[in-house]
Amino acid sequence: MTTTPLLPDIAALRAQTRLWRQAGESIALVPTMGALHAGHISLVELAKTRAKRVVATIFVNPTQFAPTEDFAKYPRTLEADIAKLAAAGADAAFTPSPDEIYPEGFCTSITLRGPATAGLEDRFRPTHFQGVATVVAKLLLQALPDVAIFGEKDFQQLAVIRQMTADLNIPVEILGAPTMREADGLAMSSRNIYLNEEERAVAPMLHRCMSRAAQRIHDGEAMEAALAPARSKLMAAGFEIDYLEVRDAATLATVQGRYRKGLRMLIAARLGRTRLIDNIEV
Ligand code: PAF
Repeated sequence: MTTTPLLPDIAALRAQTRLWRQAGESIALVPTMGALHAGHISLVELAKTRAKRVVATIFVNPTQFAPTEDFAKYPRTLEADIAKLAAAGADAAFTPSPDEIYPEGFCTSITLRGPATAGLEDRFRPTHFQGVATVVAKLLLQALPDVAIFGEKDFQQLAVIRQMTADLNIPVEILGAPTMREADGLAMSSRNIYLNEEERAVAPMLHRCMSRAAQRIHDGEAMEAALAPARSKLMAAGFEIDYLEVRDAATLATVQGRYRKGLRMLIAARLGRTRLIDNIEV
């Protein structure tokens, strides 16, 4: 059985990627926090079409979790993840320890504005993107890939990473990959395992209500009027909505009025103890 070599520390990652660069081989990076599902594997598959070598990273990044969030119980499934990466044809997996990424005395982080302060996820997770940007910058600077791939499911995160790499002149192409969905429309997420049976049955409403609202906006209805029934239906079904908004897809700036090109609808809602996020093109 083929397996995917593990690169357990930064020295191993640098040594491997240096060899590939010296051989003239292009490199794609797929950063993940593990608990891999078909959505992650689609990122690896896209990566394989864009570069000769693919490195996936598996690191549950403590700095992007608030103390009240699920860092300790975030699913950790390394053995299964490595088997999935091998089956998908990834060339290596970077699997650092927390001490490798944040050694004793670590005290640097990246301060963000722009899409990171758009008033969506940042309103509910004020330290999240600082943690994401800091770890992603570290991963990019150690691997020095030609391209790095992130899921569109975390749409604000993708915008933050694009802005950060452009602002810091990190020489990498950032590529967004479409959200993978279950047959009933629920966006794939490592956190879906937190849903109990009843919640799992209700969860696809998120995508259904957004799709209907997007269609109404597309058909000419004013945005707020089109979103109102979606909000009511979701709340009646037991969702607590953090936000459901239409924004400019490129900048995440607020928008008003009626349909125009380049809009994105984004939602975050809690169902029981699980917080779900999703977004679609309008
Ligand atoms: O999207 C994720 O899984 C994480 O936020 C990322 C980009 C791997 C950074 O830890």
